[in-house]
Amino acid sequence: FRALRWASRLTLLTGVGLTGWLAYSIYTLGHPVEQVEPDPDKKTLVILVPLPGTGWGAISLLKKLDTENYNVVVISPRNFFLFTPLLPSCTTGLIEHRSVMEPIRNIIRQKKGVVKYYEAEATKVDFENRLVHISDDSEIKGEVSNTVVPFDMLVVGVGAENATFGIPGVKEHSCFLKEVGDAQQIRKRIMDCVETALFKDQTEDEVKRLLHMVVVGGGPTGVEFAGELQDFFEEDLKKWIPEIKDNFHVTLVEALPNVLPMFSKQLIDYTESTFKEEKITVRTKTMVKKVTDNSIEAEVTKPDGSKEIETIPYGLLVWATGNAVRSVVRDLMNQIPAQKSSRRGLAVNEYLVVNGTENIWAVGDCAITNYAPTAQVANQEGAFLARLFNTMAKTDDIERELKKLSAAQAVAKNEEERNKVFDEIKERQKQLRRTKQIGPFQYSHQGSLAYIGKERAVADISWVSGNFASGGTMTYLFWRSAYLSMCFSTRNRCLVAFDWIKTKIFGRDVSRE
Ligand code: FAD
Ligand code: NAI
Repeated sequence: FRALRWASRLTLLTGVGLTGWLAYSIYTLGHPVEQVEPDPDKKTLVILVPLPGTGWGAISLLKKLDTENYNVVVISPRNFFLFTPLLPSCTTGLIEHRSVMEPIRNIIRQKKGVVKYYEAEATKVDFENRLVHISDDSEIKGEVSNTVVPFDMLVVGVGAENATFGIPGVKEHSCFLKEVGDAQQIRKRIMDCVETALFKDQTEDEVKRLLHMVVVGGGPTGVEFAGELQDFFEEDLKKWIPEIKDNFHVTLVEALPNVLPMFSKQLIDYTESTFKEEKITVRTKTMVKKVTDNSIEAEVTKPDGSKEIETIPYGLLVWATGNAVRSVVRDLMNQIPAQKSSRRGLAVNEYLVVNGTENIWAVGDCAITNYAPTAQVANQEGAFLARLFNTMAKTDDIERELKKLSAAQAVAKNEEERNKVFDEIKERQKQLRRTKQIGPFQYSHQGSLAYIGKERAVADISWVSGNFASGGTMTYLFWRSAYLSMCFSTRNRCLVAFDWIKTKIFGRDVSRE
């Protein structure tokens, strides 16, 4: 009974604690703090965040930066942060896209020091003159839609664009999966293909083509999308539109011998066998060479090593073959001689300083480090830069104080006063040494996770004693709780959880908006 009493007390306390925390989080979201105006004497830090809203690297930096120490200007054509790991779920309506978006205005209003935001694309970084050229590319334009922003320090966190490798027809005919708009377009096209296939007098071949959903790229983006799409078909489309059940088909095309190359062999095999069970066709050793408006042409490597060109008709084509360098980054690289040999992005040193510069840093997918271009890396890089900049600001303050103390020591009236100032100088110098002891960036890999459909996920988790690989339904529950806890805000967490519950009860919406 005593144990029971303690257990009930503990449950009650946890409940009260959680409710209090939730209430506080919701209160702070709706009640932004009083902000400190920027000090004209402070340095101007420009955070270049090109992407729908603001990306992983830049937002992580902004979140932890003491903004009262710098005049921070955020520039991005996207006025929200996007939680990309749940983007594949938005393509089928499992999660509504607004649930994984956090407005940049909410983020900057929670900062202590005022942060400026311009909804614009950075078109050019003038390295020599320390200027960023910006352009308003939105539908509504004012009298001024092109201007420059000067900077003392610059952080480039513009991410990457979709790699197409110059393959003809990809840009014109494919859907990509990087932005919210991409997910919306895919959702619309899936339903358009389904309804068009059911148009009166449609031929059998055309029905088959329209209901063939082809995903190119067997990396995590392609795999997660294929899994989500097959779930949509099994759980909702088949129920509401049974006429399509014999012809709806998902194919994943990959140039390498297997999908998910960054995962362990055991998980690759598990993913491929789960896809087989789900009836998703995996075409490995199949490299797409050309895309037309209704088919792809691919070079298939046969088991005997011979190659043959195959034409695969499709209704929906989703292209997920990784990252390419954005033009603004390429232009900046061309201005810096030390970047000549870099191909995949801005080469940086261990403090994320762009090689060949002193006042430009790069984070996330546009920076070339020893790590994969993931949200996990970008997030840690952003947090590292915040720590670095906070330390630099503190160092500046201490150095200013030291100068004042030295002047005071020189004009001290007597020995006692001089000794007092001397002690203070010693204390500040100690503080300065401690502050300056910030080490280089070190990435701590927490593991890789991917959803593979049918309420299963795969995980390669870094453990104290090495790597731990797991796949299945328990991993899926872990995947869900991990991503729910990683959502940007309490608001996002609640919206995503509601969406999951809503879909479980009512199913996904099969209308085409
Ligand atoms: P991004 O997050 O891409 O942000 C770039 C920002 O720059 C955007 O705000 C953009 O609007 C802005 N921008 C672009 N051009 C300009 C310009 N010219 N001027 C100004 N601003 C500009 N990683 C994981 O670790 N785990 C996952 O589960 C995972 N899932 C993913 C799922 C999908 C569908 C995708 C596409 C990616 C996923 N990733 C995942 C990878 C992860 O999203 C990226 O590595 C991460 O977003 C990189 O962060 P970033 O800050 O460099 O760039
Ligand atoms: P990716 O680079 O990981 O994979 C792209 C795949 O496309 C490669 O396997 C490549 O062989 C294949 N490919 C390239 N050209 C091809 C062609 N012409 N024909 C057929 N196949 C072709 O790209 P992805 O999945 O877009 O991921 C980008 C980054 O984002 C990666 O670093 C990834 O780790 C990260 N990410 C992580 C996720 C997770 O951890 N769950 C989810 C999504 C992305």
